[in-house]
Amino acid sequence: MRLDKYCALAGAGSRKDVKKIIRQKRVLVNGVVTVNDDVHIDPYLDKIELDHEILAVVLDVYILLNKPAGVISATTDEMHKTVLECIDSTLPPGCFPVGRLDIDTEGLLLITNDGELSHRLLSPKRKVDKVYYVECRDVVDQLTVETLQKGVDIDDDTPTLPALVEIISEKTMFLTIKEGRYHQVKRMLAACGNQVTYLKRIQMGPLSLDDDMALGSWRFLNETEVEQLKKW
Ligand code: URA
Repeated sequence: MRLDKYCALAGAGSRKDVKKIIRQKRVLVNGVVTVNDDVHIDPYLDKIELDHEILAVVLDVYILLNKPAGVISATTDEMHKTVLECIDSTLPPGCFPVGRLDIDTEGLLLITNDGELSHRLLSPKRKVDKVYYVECRDVVDQLTVETLQKGVDIDDDTPTLPALVEIISEKTMFLTIKEGRYHQVKRMLAACGNQVTYLKRIQMGPLSLDDDMALGSWRFLNETEVEQLKKW
């Protein structure tokens, strides 16, 4: 982010005021005076000071976590480690996971403090695609594929929306669903007389897990990913 934009966001003045303040040598970047208003700074890592007082901006944070099993999708929990505790960096207040993965489910989880974006991504109206890698106890037969594709009665008010099935091997598949009902994938397979033995989310809307991302690791989304998410 440009230094003048950061200073303006932090309330140091308008963009024009801020350019002047910078030229007056009143702004330090990591302890060094800068007179360059178009210098790029990292708002998460760099220390910006005005007249020797820290200039802070509460930014929206977007984190992609490769959730490991055994960790709970909550902000606090007395028994288990939470997904927020997987992030070994200082987070601004108000961060939370967007939706839930079961404690034994692995994979892509978005963590943010952007309530509006979260609301939109989770809205049933938006029908955001979620892609899961699924391992099953039994062979996935043709009837199961057709049932998943048509929509399954999982004892809710309505059947599930049609899902996309891509068979990988006899007992494994990629399953794309557009809803986020409680234990949905496990219940869909259970309704077909099968059982999920391993579940990992690999995609949500425009976001995908990186191939080389270790379980439990995380990274900030880049600007393009944030833009794509906001447009979704
Ligand atoms: N469906 C499930 O059954 N569990 C999850 O964690 C996510 C989707």
